[in-house]
Amino acid sequence: MRRAIELKRDGAELSPEDWSGIVAAFMDDRIDEAQMAALCMACVWRGMSLEEAHALTQAMVASGDVLHFDGDVVVDKHSSGGVSDIVSLVAVPLAAACGAHVAKLSGRALGHTGGTIDKLESIPGFNANLSTDAFIAQVRRIGCAIAAQTSALVPADKRMYALRDRTATVPSMGLIAASIVSKKIAGGAHAFVFDVKTGRAAFMQKPEAAAELARRLVEISTRFGRRATAFVTDMNEPLGHSIGTGLEIVEARNFLSRNAADSVTLSLSKGRVYNLVLPIVAAMLAAAGIDDGESRARSALASGAAYEKFVEMIEAQGATRATLESMEPLPNPQVVRAQQSGYLHGIDVIRLGNLGRELAARNSLAGLRVAVRIGDRIEKNAALAYVHTPDSVTLDLAGAFELSNQHPPSRPLIYPSP
Ligand code: URA
Repeated sequence: MRRAIELKRDGAELSPEDWSGIVAAFMDDRIDEAQMAALCMACVWRGMSLEEAHALTQAMVASGDVLHFDGDVVVDKHSSGGVSDIVSLVAVPLAAACGAHVAKLSGRALGHTGGTIDKLESIPGFNANLSTDAFIAQVRRIGCAIAAQTSALVPADKRMYALRDRTATVPSMGLIAASIVSKKIAGGAHAFVFDVKTGRAAFMQKPEAAAELARRLVEISTRFGRRATAFVTDMNEPLGHSIGTGLEIVEARNFLSRNAADSVTLSLSKGRVYNLVLPIVAAMLAAAGIDDGESRARSALASGAAYEKFVEMIEAQGATRATLESMEPLPNPQVVRAQQSGYLHGIDVIRLGNLGRELAARNSLAGLRVAVRIGDRIEKNAALAYVHTPDSVTLDLAGAFELSNQHPPSRPLIYPSP
């Protein structure tokens, strides 16, 4: 192993045999964490070729079980991690309501980003820990399931990811691509749609880097014989308006059920969430051989079919419609107000993401609801956000909203195809 670390440190490319030997030895404890961390840091600094990332993906897939779906095309959708990113919660039942089979294995929260599994588990009774057989059977029976990654799938990623998290070695294009694609391959779907975030709260802050990661995800997936599409999308501000596990469920529920009572949801998240969900669902449907995806998705939202599929999914996994529909943010939020007038230039979305996670860890119906978007003209004292806290501690959050006299340059929600 020492030789491999030296080679990588000096910028050489390791062979597929090197990578499979390294992963196998790491899993057998013949390589210790210090050596693996040193190798990961060398990958961060020296980069990894596409061949290396592919070889590492293969080695990681081989470390555990792989699910198999027979019959119709099964689709999976993956986000590289965002704040107020409710797309999976909405897109999975929506695509299933349009006839696709969707099998989504999801992770938990990571750093400031939210985890789909934590969000779903805020619905009382929801069971994210499905056995492999139950997961496959549910996808066949009702068209969709979202379950937690089991420890039998890609155990090498679980160990490596925890180590990378502790040793600040997450942001390596090759390591990220191998980590993501290995889990998708092991999850058994035939086609993947990736949503690669870019911006100040994304792992890949620059759009060019996100586009490169997107290309790698697609290329490696294709080498495994999977169909793959990738989007590069904005993460300079929360995607929806809610940050917090239960609050994001409430927002997704209201989005799917078109609940007009939630004026903030309709006025704010509808635009961005809607504008991202529709093309993502269309890509999921196209991968499943279903054309005209956007218009099918619009109809499934309008008819309520997408909401009914969401309810069917959570009921299949132990929750009930009644508990879902009884969820509401904690009452009497603190209002964060603008201390001056100006245009909203930026949002410290990492700070908001961390705060949302912290509040929701204390009470799943606590968190934040952001009331403004970058580019908005804000008058002094206008509401910027509502903080739903389980206690009366006053949080000074106005500084997380950066105001300026200049209108900020406009940025796309979806970047041109990578
Ligand atoms: N998400 C993952 O699953 N793995 C990474 O390395 C980064 C984001």
